[in-house]
Order: sequence, then structure tokens, then C-alpha cells
Amino acid sequence: MSEVLLSARDLIKRFTTRGLYGRKSEFTAVDGVSFDVRLGETLALVGESGSGKSTSARMAAKLMEPSAGTLEFEGQDITHATSAQLARYRADVQVVFQDPFSSLNPRHTVERILMAPLDYQGIAPKGGRRAHTRELMERVGLNPDHALRYPAQFSGGQAQRIGIARALAVNPKLVICDEAVSALDVSVQAQILELLMRLQRESGFSYIFIAHDLAVVRRIAQRVAVMSTGKIVEQGPCDRVFGDPQDPYTQTLLAAIPRINPEWERKRKAATA
Ligand SMILES: Nc1ncnc2c1ncn2[C@@H]1O[C@H](COP(=O)(O)OP(=O)(O)O)[C@@H](O)[C@H]1O
Ligand SMILES: [Mg+2]
Repeated sequence: MSEVLLSARDLIKRFTTRGLYGRKSEFTAVDGVSFDVRLGETLALVGESGSGKSTSARMAAKLMEPSAGTLEFEGQDITHATSAQLARYRADVQVVFQDPFSSLNPRHTVERILMAPLDYQGIAPKGGRRAHTRELMERVGLNPDHALRYPAQFSGGQAQRIGIARALAVNPKLVICDEAVSALDVSVQAQILELLMRLQRESGFSYIFIAHDLAVVRRIAQRVAVMSTGKIVEQGPCDRVFGDPQDPYTQTLLAAIPRINPEWERKRKAATA
């Protein structure tokens, strides 16, 4: 489980913003971020809102060009991918977003939504479109008889299952979940987390999992990178980072939710007593 799938090095993203009187100013949203995602593992990205998690994820998915830095996928430099490499990457790396409804076309049936990634890649499913759609729906726990329904006819949790099924449609190697369970009710969130973990066990792909709930992260991820103001301040195995955080920012983050980590909480209390 130690082979590296995706390697990001010194990623930087600067945004030019226009302030008062149209004056331009430059803002560095991601400031030298490096991480590896290994085969079959889940790497979590955590940190306060605005710390640069989504921007890092977008660069990793090649939905956004970095201002500087490099990306390697399966040992190949894909920072400046050719269109052929990019088409391949669009299949290998999938993203699941926070709000399923805004990421699913409201005028398309589930079948059309789930076929879109294959149509884009020019792939015809072996057993036909209907059978492929049914199989995907079953894998994510949706009733396959609902293939011709529209997103609005589903609950939030079910809609997120459609988003997950779409991500699986072309057998990705990496699935990036950007706050994919954050907007769901706690009970639904637990079910979707279980689903994500089962799918990974079945298919062996890797996750980049962005969440602000550290209890969720602890359940799903093997390694975690903690972001603050555009930088990764600490990263490592979850047990180590949560059990013995080195960076003051991580310590603050953990102190805010003591229930997650009794052992560290004991140490902290002993130290401040
Ligand atoms: N397209 C953009 N243009 C200008 N600023 C942006 C853009 N996207 C994100 N930002 C800014 O970059 C910072 C990091 O945002 P983001 O990566 O979304 O953080 P997070 O996902 O950790 O909440 C924020 O200050 C945000 O306002
Ligand atoms: Mg975000």
C-alpha cells in the first residue's frame, strides 16, 4: 500500500482580485503545497474554511491550472498534460462535490447522468446502457427502477449516491471528495461514509477526502494533511497526527473537538494542570 499514485509538489495558486476602483491585487490561496496519495489509501485534507483545501483539490483534479508546482500521476509528469493525457486523466480522477443537486443536471435523467462520463470518453458499455446504469445504481444502493427519474425526485443522500455512481462510471483510480458528506444529516452522512468505504474496499481506488469534521476524517482516512492559510502545517498517519499533534494549529483544531481524541486530551490536560 506504499506505491504513490498522485504526487503534488510545491503547488501554488495565486488569484488576482480587483478591489476598490478596480485596483488589482494578488492573493496566494495555496502557498507551496506538497502531498502524496498512495494506491488504495485515503488522504484527508482538513483545515479551516478558506485555508485552500478546495483550490488544492481542483488543481489535483486538473480543473484549475496551478500558478506553480508540479503534479505527477503514476510516475508521469502531468503538470502540462497533452490533450490525450488530459482525456485519460478525466477518467482516472473523479470529483464528488458537496452539493449533489448543483452538480447534477436537473433536466437529465439518472441514466443520462450516469452515462455522461462514458459518452465523454467514447466508451460503449458491454451490456448496453440500461444494464450499465442499473449496475451502477445497485452498487451505490439506489433502486435501479428509478433510472429514468430526475435529480429533484431524490433526497439529498440519494442525490449524493447518484454523484458517487457517476464518479464510479469509468472506473477511476482516484476519487476526490470535496466536503461530499458535509451538507448531509448526521445519519445520512454515516450511511454515505459507509458506502464510500465499501466502494473503496471493492474497487481499490484512492481518495482525497476533504472534510472539516475530524471525527469523520478519523473514520475514513489513513493519512491526513492539515491546512492553514494556504499551507500544509502538518501531515502524517491519522493515528500520529491526531494522537500526538506537533503543530500548534493542529493542536487548536483538535482541542475544539475533544471528544475525538481522549488520549491527546488527557495529555493536554496534564500539561496545562
Ligand atoms: N476563483 C477564485 N478567485 C479568487 N479567490 C478565490 C477563488 N477560489 C478561491 N478563492 C479564495 O482562495 C481561498 C481558499 O479557498 P478554498 O480553496 O475554497 O478554501 P477551502 O476549501 O479550504 O475553504 C479563499 O480565501 C477563497 O476566497
Ligand atoms: Mg472548500
